[in-house]
Amino acid sequence: MCGIVGYIGNENVYDILIKGLHRLEYRGYDSAGVALVAPDGKLSVYKARGKVSNLESFCADKNLDARAGIAHTRWATHGEPSDKNAHPHFSEDGEIAVVHNGTIENYKVLKDALIAQGCKFHSETDTEVLAQLIEYIRVENQCSLLSAVRKALRQVVGAYAIAVVEKNNPDTIIAARQSSPLVIGIGENEMFLASDATPFVEYTKDVVYLKDGEIAVIQRGKPLKVTNLDNVETGVDVTTLQMSISELEKGGYPHFMLKEIFEQPRTLRDCIRGRVSDDGKRININGINDHKDKFLNCKRIVIVACGTSWHAGLLGRYLIQEMCHIPVVVEYASEFRYSYPVLDENDIVIAISQSGETADTLAAIKIAKSMGAFVFGISNVVGSSIPRETYAGCYIHVGPEIGVASTKAFTGQVMVLTLLALGIAQLRGTKSEDEIRALGEEVLRIPSYVEEVLKLDKEIRRLSLIYTYAHNFLYLGRGYSYPVALEGALKLKEISYIHAEGYPAAEMKHGPIALIDQEMPTVIIAPQDHLYEKIVSNVQQVKARGGNILAIVTEGDSVIRNIADHVLEVPVMPECLTPIITSVPLQLLSYYIAVNKGKDVDMPRNLAKSVTVE
Ligand code: G6P
Repeated sequence: MCGIVGYIGNENVYDILIKGLHRLEYRGYDSAGVALVAPDGKLSVYKARGKVSNLESFCADKNLDARAGIAHTRWATHGEPSDKNAHPHFSEDGEIAVVHNGTIENYKVLKDALIAQGCKFHSETDTEVLAQLIEYIRVENQCSLLSAVRKALRQVVGAYAIAVVEKNNPDTIIAARQSSPLVIGIGENEMFLASDATPFVEYTKDVVYLKDGEIAVIQRGKPLKVTNLDNVETGVDVTTLQMSISELEKGGYPHFMLKEIFEQPRTLRDCIRGRVSDDGKRININGINDHKDKFLNCKRIVIVACGTSWHAGLLGRYLIQEMCHIPVVVEYASEFRYSYPVLDENDIVIAISQSGETADTLAAIKIAKSMGAFVFGISNVVGSSIPRETYAGCYIHVGPEIGVASTKAFTGQVMVLTLLALGIAQLRGTKSEDEIRALGEEVLRIPSYVEEVLKLDKEIRRLSLIYTYAHNFLYLGRGYSYPVALEGALKLKEISYIHAEGYPAAEMKHGPIALIDQEMPTVIIAPQDHLYEKIVSNVQQVKARGGNILAIVTEGDSVIRNIADHVLEVPVMPECLTPIITSVPLQLLSYYIAVNKGKDVDMPRNLAKSVTVE
């Protein structure tokens, strides 16, 4: 949530910052701003409400000549989206400017103390408090900016990734992190900082992921220096970025979301590669191999996640309980810490997060570790906080996901959970060698099945026109198709703003059935599985009440075809592997409905892709 970017070097900083902000817009886009430090030491701040493109229009006639600066794209926490609440924030005397991602929890106390000292505030943000505090300390102590930042941060409670610049000093940026991501790129005679590496991937592959409690001094012409809040040097750990610029472009598609939906055959291949032997017989997950005793002895698995990742977690429960016979509970990470959790060393906690930065999921991990559980992470973003905070884990390897509504990351997460379940089953002997081989062979075929399903694109686009103007949707599924129904409904809500509810099909009788009429379409996920007969009766119950039905069925289905208004067929496959296949048509359906309604598919209102506040 909120993206920050900074640059110091010989290029025009404004162009680099704006390009960087566009890449970080998935993190928030209700206002944006830049602070430029010109070679003569003049500090200029420009801000505008709305997307980064508004900021560009605002800056069109400004003097933008500078070689150092910082910038921000905001997802509002304290204070409404407005020009005045947009970052960067100034100190009262205009000497320093700050951009910040995170939340300062004790900002009120700090603000009151500063007001008592005569400070005047111009915004409602917690960030302005930080800017004023740093400057107050600097003036009071007659100290350097670095020293003032360090002293200020020792008073701060909360989460932050910040970058600070000062007037009259076009050669230095101070950056720091605590519980919000910050990565520094080291180029030739230039340095970058950003919430993730996407703003500078085309300039350098040498990156330093700042750790909690670290402060970086980024100085023109000097090596990077990293210290902790006690001013002790902590060392500079340079790693090589595995990301290419083509992954960040739309590649001819009108939206990132559509590109990402169509990438899934490849991303799933990348996710499976090396983890299933060519003959399907062996499942090879390093995170399991390195901790066999934990997976052999655990008595329970607790999955924590948010949003789409939570839906993947629900599927993980079905997969692990079916294949490994280990009890699994799935918790919203945001509720986990308030549910008086009881964990011990016999529990494995699996934290699932595309971004690897979701604040609630990180908080759940901390609690799980403090209670002695073994914590395993499933993430997409290499080097993000969750892989670093967990004892072991698995990347989903689907590449950067830019569309705010998650698609390829969801199928990647489900794939990893499937492989994890198979791997644990192999280790514990809860599935025979033949059963593992049969499923392993099918897993290897999933990318080709997804290719088949993507051929429904034209048909789904046609159907979307029929369904675009509904105001409410019901999504139903049973067993493995129930979490798919939840995810289908969420996708529609997120990008088309149509109200949609996902429900276990049988539970429909206990409430939602009252809503059914000709105005409310029901999407039913009904592949041929052991619950097929039961879901057929649910389809009939909807039809008997005049409901309109779009059903996802298995190739050759004739029963539901005769009842439903429209059907989309997916290939035949083992029941536990259907979710990846049945969720793809639902992604396309919500995409086309949102496009038909003229919505901003990649940047839906109010949402952010990376939720780094509680
Ligand atoms: C936000 C995003 C969702 C995502 C959720 C959890 O709400 O818009 O797409 O599923 O956060 O994010 P995570 O990065 O932890 O998977």
